[in-house]
Amino acid sequence: MNIDPKTIQTPIYLLEEDRLRKNLQLLKRVKDKSGAKILLALKGFAFKASFGMVREYLDGCCASGLYEARFSNEYFKKQTHTYSPAFKDEEFDEIVTLSEHIVFNSFAQWQKFKEKALGKVSCGIRINPEVSSAPTDLYNPCALYSRLGVTKDEFRSDLLEGIEGLHFHALCEQNVEALEEVLNGIEKKFGEFIPQMKWINFGGGHHITKEGYDVERLIELIVDFKRRYGVEVYLEPGEAIGWQTGVLIARVLDIVHNGIDIAILDTSAEAHMPDTIIMPYRAEVRGAKEAGVKPYTYRLAGNTCLAGDVMGDYSFDEPLCVGDIVIFEDQIHYTIVKNTTFNGIKLPDLAVLKENGTIQIVKHFGYNEYASRN
Ligand SMILES: Cc1ncc(COP(=O)(O)O)c(C=O)c1O
Repeated sequence: MNIDPKTIQTPIYLLEEDRLRKNLQLLKRVKDKSGAKILLALKGFAFKASFGMVREYLDGCCASGLYEARFSNEYFKKQTHTYSPAFKDEEFDEIVTLSEHIVFNSFAQWQKFKEKALGKVSCGIRINPEVSSAPTDLYNPCALYSRLGVTKDEFRSDLLEGIEGLHFHALCEQNVEALEEVLNGIEKKFGEFIPQMKWINFGGGHHITKEGYDVERLIELIVDFKRRYGVEVYLEPGEAIGWQTGVLIARVLDIVHNGIDIAILDTSAEAHMPDTIIMPYRAEVRGAKEAGVKPYTYRLAGNTCLAGDVMGDYSFDEPLCVGDIVIFEDQIHYTIVKNTTFNGIKLPDLAVLKENGTIQIVKHFGYNEYASRN
């Protein structure tokens, strides 16, 4: 990727089309070989300038409520499968008009909205297998006291009339062994209900496009599941679509010293890369290594007043200077969809590195984005 540090406007998220296409080609292979359908989870990746390409490969979107369902219809224009922890009366009718599948999080919600949904959409119930090895409770839908999905104890086999599918989401950035474990749990607890279903949605959290993911095993598992139960299988990953498809480019505004050298950037971990703080994880920085490995170490930090607005400590071959750019890798999924204007900080612009090598700025954000929401 050839970025001119002098002319690039920062901060900016830059989606790389060729890397996105690679992910999509792999997902398409999974679809073709397993017979599963794959939906894009908008909550993780909603970069609409890329939808022309994504649509060529995937079957539609999974939405978390009215706005994502509308977005899916307006910009993706394929199937929309909507699940929400709880639907609101005043939104439900519109969600029905926008969705092919609706998944309820409880039998109470199913009973409440059944009449409005039956005959118009295919209805499902989210189940909680209470089995998961998700790496952190914040991202573990099966953690103790989770509100997400019906547990076996709460399951109402007497209320299944009209229910055509089961949905579970129990993984977070995991390989296929974790899915196997969850599927075993599902089959033990809910297996008797599966043959009467038309479809099972395996949720997201499948790290299919990460190097080392056992894609062939995933295909085998799906083929076997479909054969044994005679159901359609859906996957709805978000991260696997946006995984390593682009960067966040920021600029050094100042370098201060307090025991260590600290570079203040025109971006923010808190506002623009929030999972680095809440997950937490350390973003890779292009050309940099862990602190102390290369000759010049800096703490990279955000331009807000939050003391903990820090990306981490990194070392570089050359000293950083005011005006230099810093490139954070893999900043397209769960960043743009989550970012905020905290502290009035400017939202990063959105751009696409096209497959022909040109950079297209698709959205410039300014003061209005801050003013209009406050
Ligand atoms: C119900 C549901 N489906 C799909 C996803 C997408 O997960 P991921 O982006 O980890 O693949 C999530 C993420 O939270 C989810 O809650």
